Amino acid sequence: MSEPLVQVKGLKTYFPIHKGIFGGKTGDVRAVDGIDMAIRRGETFGLVGESGSGKSTIGRTLLRLSDKTEGEVTFDGIDLFGLSPAELRRIRPRMQMVFQDPYGSLHPRIRIGDAIGEALLDHGIATKAEARERVREVLSLCGLAPYHIDRFPHEFSGGQRQRIGIARAIILNPEFIVADEPVSALDVSIQAQIINLLHDLQESRQLTYLFISHDLSVVEHLCSTIGVLYLGSLVEMATREDLFTRPQHPYTKALLSAVPIPNPTARRERIVLKGDIPSPANPPSGCKFHTRCPIATSVCREQEPLFRDLGGGHFAACHLV
Ligand SMILES: Nc1ncnc2c1ncn2[C@@H]1O[C@H](COP(=O)(O)OP(=O)(O)OP(=O)(O)O)[C@@H](O)[C@H]1O
Ligand SMILES: [Mg+2]
Repeated sequence: MSEPLVQVKGLKTYFPIHKGIFGGKTGDVRAVDGIDMAIRRGETFGLVGESGSGKSTIGRTLLRLSDKTEGEVTFDGIDLFGLSPAELRRIRPRMQMVFQDPYGSLHPRIRIGDAIGEALLDHGIATKAEARERVREVLSLCGLAPYHIDRFPHEFSGGQRQRIGIARAIILNPEFIVADEPVSALDVSIQAQIINLLHDLQESRQLTYLFISHDLSVVEHLCSTIGVLYLGSLVEMATREDLFTRPQHPYTKALLSAVPIPNPTARRERIVLKGDIPSPANPPSGCKFHTRCPIATSVCREQEPLFRDLGGGHFAACHLV
């Protein structure tokens, strides 16, 4: 098997907490707390977890848009954090991001043709005329009309705006796209259209995705591998098939119990977790999940479980599986 496109080893991203403006550091928010994962070429890796579990921070760190605290990220064998600013700039077109709220990342008074095409001009890849031509092409590819090129962001619907966000991400012909909750702000009917678009683009352009979502049912249809995140750590990682049919970690089981089943006669017992997600500035000792785990024992409070291979690339971090 070929080497993965993105490889992550022991990745930690901490944000320092300061007391007052001039106060010293009093601790860290451990947003990403020791992640190991690999994303194969052409696959969609789904990253799932509750709000605050560190999904966006991982996505940003993988593109070196956030600094890391520890660990390693390689892209196509290149150590991302070892690159000089000039080298980083050269590699940037190969990796792009699609955001949850494309409206927030589009300037209200910049025509979308200019917003989508600016990266081509920035990187000196195209002349103004060539850029306009390329923008028209990606607009149609993303299900928009070439005549939309001179419109402003407010003239589009939410789903169309997300198409603009995707057009903007693919115009430089990237290999890797981090899609951070790209459909969470959209109506269910529009979600399917955007997911289909991402899927079609993946097929036609051999794209590799990190697809971030707080909702397992969204990643189910798109992702070949899924990682479940809790308080900055992966608790389980497996192929979609294994994760949905043989979940091992009690947290994954609880998340899955909330996913609706298409067959109305089948029933799944809903597992409701007690309490709230603890603060990543002060995570529980031992297994971070023990405070909410329905089956925790004393060893879970005392020892941190290893993230180990249960066989066939199915990983879980739990003392009791
Ligand atoms: N720049 C920052 N400075 C300080 N803390 C941060 C920063 N960015 C994120 N955090 C903290 O890191 C933790 C993880 O945040 P992150 O945005 O990665 O979570 P998330 O899983 O994407 O959540 P959501 O589903 O709400 O988008 C949170 O506790 C957050 O408050
Ligand atoms: Mg986020």
